[in-house]
Amino acid sequence: MARYSHIVGWGMYTPEHVVTNEDLAKIVETNDAWIRSRTGIRERHLVDNPQESSSTLAARAARAALERAGLPPTALDMIILATSSPDHLFPATACIVQDAIGATNAGAYDLSAACSGFVYGMAMAHGLIVSGQANTVMVIGAETLSRLVDWSDRNTCVLFGDGAGAVILQGREEPGGFLASVLGADGSGAGLLTLPAGGSRLPASVETVRRGDHYIKMDGKAVFRFATRVMANATRQVVEKAGLTLDDVELIVPHQANVRIIESSVVRQLKFPREKVFVNLERYGNTSTASIPMALTEAVETGRLKQGDHVVLVGFGAGLTWAAALIQWGPPIPLLPRWQRWWHQAWYPFHRARSAWRRGLRRVLAAWLGTKERSQEEFEGLRSRAGLKKEKKE
Ligand code: COA
Repeated sequence: MARYSHIVGWGMYTPEHVVTNEDLAKIVETNDAWIRSRTGIRERHLVDNPQESSSTLAARAARAALERAGLPPTALDMIILATSSPDHLFPATACIVQDAIGATNAGAYDLSAACSGFVYGMAMAHGLIVSGQANTVMVIGAETLSRLVDWSDRNTCVLFGDGAGAVILQGREEPGGFLASVLGADGSGAGLLTLPAGGSRLPASVETVRRGDHYIKMDGKAVFRFATRVMANATRQVVEKAGLTLDDVELIVPHQANVRIIESSVVRQLKFPREKVFVNLERYGNTSTASIPMALTEAVETGRLKQGDHVVLVGFGAGLTWAAALIQWGPPIPLLPRWQRWWHQAWYPFHRARSAWRRGLRRVLAAWLGTKERSQEEFEGLRSRAGLKKEKKE
């Protein structure tokens, strides 16, 4: 029996704090007119609380997607989290989210393909589902790029925003859902958009921090040229791979980096109607891996997709990478009755307590083992003082 993977849940979360172009003009030499005309961005949401990070935003989006799907966290078999701003180099941010939402039956890993990461993640989820290795997979894109941006560099700081978006893919027998994908990379352009320090190539040091190598570096013009070319090509290729034409596509949800990139690639090169392209970057800026799931969530919630519609998700990013997926939208997903949703919500505090208990237990165990080690040392000391320990020969 053929298996298909359908999107059955979606959700997003952005931090409350909004930073407008005028706010940025107070910290770097820029202005609203320049930012709007060169990028289309009006404002962005940024974390302003040290407790917030990519994992906390991701967990909020994940909970929203689960609620929309009417699924408890325990239904997830796998969490794939695409991010360029993980909480740590390791452990994977996906594992922190797995614990935060109590997805106790799920494997979890991070995926690093920059802004194309979410579409890469969807292709991986589809592969797991159709090969029978998993049935319910959550794909998250989550970023707190504001923590990696040089707030004195006007070339980059005006572009990015923080946020998270998530979808849940589930195996079904009805045809449709994820139809095709195109994934590409060109590492010869790795230096065009990079965060040089903090990895094994250039470990963090006083010197790297002094040089600002722990911040995002970008050749904006080169990335722009690359983006306009690959967005159009990848869209064409994925439509062809699905055996369709652009006329069959009801909506394109592109990576929300710059409205000029979207217009010159998708609209002008593909001659695709502007009204069938979903754009929300004016309110969020470029949220990297989160931009496509956030835009998709808003597109669904505003009624832009109905059953049977074909939607193309297409992105590009550091690497260089690019990715496109073609999805046939499934039947509407009814919301669960309030009491059942409440029952699912009750899992979160329960699991938080369980997780705290496990952490406590580990600490107690570690302390106990530590005592044992000290006892062993004391024991050795006693033995040697009692002359039971043989003297080491010189
Ligand atoms: N405010 C005011 N002026 C700015 C500015 C800002 N925030 N940032 C740059 N400028 C200046 C430049 O210094 C330059 O001045 P100069 O001519 O005196 O040197 C001038 O504006 C034009 O800069 P330029 O680089 O030609 O602008 P651009 O039209 O290429 O737009 C980007 C710059 C970054 C918006 C554009 O190149 C871009 O979007 N690139 C892709 C970036 C991207 O999407 N990255 C993420 C990939 S996932």
